[in-house]
Amino acid sequence: MSKIPVTLLFSDGVTQKIEVEPGGKLLDAAAEAGWTLLTDCSNGQCGTCSGQCVSGRLDLDDYDPSVLPDDEREDGAVLCCVARVNEPAIVELPYESSEVGSGEPPTQQGTVVSVEKIAEETMRLEVEVAEPVSFLPGQYVRMRPEGQVEWRSYSMANETGQTRLVFFIRMVEGGVFSTWLSGAAPGSEIEVSAPRGSFFLRADARPRLFIAGGTGLAPFLAMLRAIRNGGYESAPTQLLVGVRSGAHLFARQELDAIKAEFPELQIHYAAEKDAPPGCHEGYGTDLIAGLGVDPKTQVYLCGPPPMVEAGREAIAKAGLRKSDALCERFA
Ligand SMILES: Cc1cc2nc3c(=O)[nH]c(=O)nc-3n(C[C@H](O)[C@H](O)[C@H](O)COP(=O)(O)OP(=O)(O)OC[C@H]3O[C@@H](n4cnc5c(N)ncnc54)[C@H](O)[C@@H]3O)c2cc1C
Ligand code: FES
Repeated sequence: MSKIPVTLLFSDGVTQKIEVEPGGKLLDAAAEAGWTLLTDCSNGQCGTCSGQCVSGRLDLDDYDPSVLPDDEREDGAVLCCVARVNEPAIVELPYESSEVGSGEPPTQQGTVVSVEKIAEETMRLEVEVAEPVSFLPGQYVRMRPEGQVEWRSYSMANETGQTRLVFFIRMVEGGVFSTWLSGAAPGSEIEVSAPRGSFFLRADARPRLFIAGGTGLAPFLAMLRAIRNGGYESAPTQLLVGVRSGAHLFARQELDAIKAEFPELQIHYAAEKDAPPGCHEGYGTDLIAGLGVDPKTQVYLCGPPPMVEAGREAIAKAGLRKSDALCERFA
């Protein structure tokens, strides 16, 4: 059977036609043609790869319906990472062709410098690479331990432009990377991709609300450091940190140190159980209604998908638009 044409329409007007084997994956065919479309999780869990099928049809493999609700799917929304081609289609992508045209930048070899358990189910990992890694605060890298096939994504918590990368990682029972991490030690080798992702701090002076679930705090540490260092407009900034229990709280000293130099920052903690003094007992998202957020606030949500969804609902109830929330789902 002959290949099926799919046209990609980028937001800058660039149009690219690609040819896909019947039943083939859109993402693979685009990459073969030199277009590495934007993705994060690559398995239908985060929404980064959203597009709009404006003509024809794309079939989708399994995905999380909270990321692509049925009504949006019916209106033609698609997740490119799980899309398969069985008939000609035209797909609109909400980003410019220049963001994806040059293919995947090279990876570099990293070495574990330290790895320690810092809270319940939570590890702090430091990796040293040869070339400084410049990234937009909030972005992540993919990492692949030596001898492993699979890549996993982790957000940098350090400042940009360093050779030492800092990660906060939740240990997932039976998980590929988590299992490796439990045995990792200084000197362990790991391959590190170039920085990626569209969840990064926007350069405007709107008030900011950062909502973190568990290790979803990691990208916010990088963002807060960038604002504190003066690289971004200063604006009232609220950080809401929600964790499973008081024993899961981490990086409080780092946050206190940032706050000491960032007077417009307010931090709120919540733990579902065993909350220590000064920390709300319950979900972090319960606190949103009481924050009195300015309607112009730019919201950033990062953490497990159910927490991100709860956060989107809560900001809508607080009078903000869901479209004002940038989301990163750790799935
Ligand atoms: C953009 C992005 C940034 C991220 N940043 C961070 C971060 O900064 N910190 C962080 O903690 N996480 C982050 N994550 C999540 C992270 O990438 C991993 O998904 C997470 O660490 C789990 O990886 P793992 O290899 O340990 O688990 P996986 O191997 O992916 O397993 C996940 C779950 O599936 C189960 N499972 C695995 N294989 C099977 C199987 N064959 N059959 C049945 N069940 C199975 C496991 O038991 C586990 O419960 C991020 C994710 C994204 C998309
Ligand atoms: S990259 Fe497609 S849903 Fe995450």
